[in-house]
Amino acid sequence: MNIGIIGAGNVGSALARACVTAGHSVCVSAAHAIKAQGLAAETGATAARTNAEAVAEADIVILAVPYSALAEVAAEMVDELAGRIVIDVTNTGAPDLDHRLSTTSAAEELQVILPEARVVKAFNTVFAALQPTPTVEGMRLDGLFATDDEYAREQISALLGGLGYEPLDCGPLIMARALEDMALVNIRLNAVNGWSWHTAWKLVGVR
Ligand SMILES: NC(=O)c1ccc[n+]([C@@H]2O[C@H](COP(=O)([O-])OP(=O)(O)OC[C@H]3O[C@@H](n4cnc5c(N)ncnc54)[C@H](OP(=O)(O)O)[C@@H]3O)[C@@H](O)[C@H]2O)c1
Repeated sequence: MNIGIIGAGNVGSALARACVTAGHSVCVSAAHAIKAQGLAAETGATAARTNAEAVAEADIVILAVPYSALAEVAAEMVDELAGRIVIDVTNTGAPDLDHRLSTTSAAEELQVILPEARVVKAFNTVFAALQPTPTVEGMRLDGLFATDDEYAREQISALLGGLGYEPLDCGPLIMARALEDMALVNIRLNAVNGWSWHTAWKLVGVR
């Protein structure tokens, strides 16, 4: 697949590395072009000069930017992202957003900005440190995702499986609320307990 990744930070880097290793063609952009160039040189991805260039040939677009930048990045590419699969990896993370729990999600907000895109929530429940090799204690981590789009559901499932996850379809995009809350629990536990950001969700007893 052709994967366009916007963002070359923790998640953008980890997913670029993982996708290239899995045999995908990856094009990355960042706020500062030099960051995308550095990541491309390290991973074998291609660096784009602009976000629009990064998504131009993409079968799947991954928005790996902070939640605070998500709306602006998306709003600048409404036409380019129409019809495309767009993965939202973001977590809001801010403690003063407690009131938002289960009332909306970044992914649903993104779908409003991009009404014609096939928005998917995925990767937000896995820390960047684990994304290049999503296995812990011999267990394939769950690739939890949510989307309203049938075609995107097939494609994300294939992508996650190829990256080493156990794809776990959590249902419609409204379930992104739960996925963002799950991430918040994991983030909070690591922050409060001083853990090393290597904990992950695994649903046991599935079969
Ligand atoms: N870190 C984790 O373990 C983890 C795991 C799952 C989900 N998440 C979520 O994923 C999101 C990204 O997290 P992160 O840790 O990767 O953040 P990060 O390390 O701060 O990276 C953010 C990236 O976004 C880029 N960016 C910002 N504004 C942009 C714009 N307008 N156009 C293009 N690129 C832009 C930045 O570019 P520059 O490098 O040029 O500044 C940077 O490369 C967050 O919402 C976070 O909650 C994080």
